[in-house]
Amino acid sequence: MYCPEEIEGVLLTEEKIKAKVSELGELLTREYAEKNPLFICVLKGSVVFFADLIREIKCPLEISFLRASSYGSGTVSSGNVQFSVGANIDMRGRHVVIVEDIMDTARTLFALKNELLKREPESLKIVTLLDKPSRRVVSGFSADYEGFAIDDLFVVGYGLDCGEKFRNLPYIGILRQQGTYCT
Ligand code: IMP
Ligand code: MG
Repeated sequence: MYCPEEIEGVLLTEEKIKAKVSELGELLTREYAEKNPLFICVLKGSVVFFADLIREIKCPLEISFLRASSYGSGTVSSGNVQFSVGANIDMRGRHVVIVEDIMDTARTLFALKNELLKREPESLKIVTLLDKPSRRVVSGFSADYEGFAIDDLFVVGYGLDCGEKFRNLPYIGILRQQGTYCT
C-alpha cells in the first residue's frame, strides 16, 4: 500500500469507503428516481467521492462542477469562502444536490447553499462524505446525507488534500501534524 511518511495512520479503508458510498447511492437512487436531479461536484476535494457516488446512483441524473475555496495551503481555515459557479448552470425548478468531501466549520456549505438558493432550485440538498461535528461554527447546520462523522483530525486522501498533496490516496488517512501547518 502507498503510504507517504506524512500519514500517521488510516482512518477509513478503501473497503469501508466503498461500502458507505454504495449505501449512499442506494438512498439517493430511491430519493431521486423520476426527478432527473442535478448533482454538483464541489472542486477539487469532492472529485473522487463524486465520481464513485454517481456511479452508485441508478437513475437518470445530470452533473455539474463548481469551485469553492476556504483553505490556503495549510490546515487552518481562513474563514473566507470563495466560489466560482458557472453562470450558465440553470438550476431553476431543478432538484439540485451539492456533493462535498467534508464539512468542518460548515462555513463553506452554508455560504454555498445560500448562493445556490438564489438560483431558485425546486429542492437543494447536501451530501457530504465526512463530517466533523465538533468543529461546527455555523450552529445547527447539517448535511441531508452524510457518510461518516469523524473526530477533530486533519484527514487527507480520497480527494482531500493538504497543500494540494495526497488527493490520490485511495483511502482516508490521518495527517501527521507538523506544527500548525503541514509542509
Ligand atoms: P468548512 O467551511 O470549514 O466546513 O470547510 C470545508 C472545507 O475545508 C472542505 O471542503 C475541505 O476542503 C477543507 N477541510 C476541512 N477539514 C479538512 C480535512 O480534515 N482535510 C482536508 N480538507 C479539509
Ligand atoms: Mg472542499
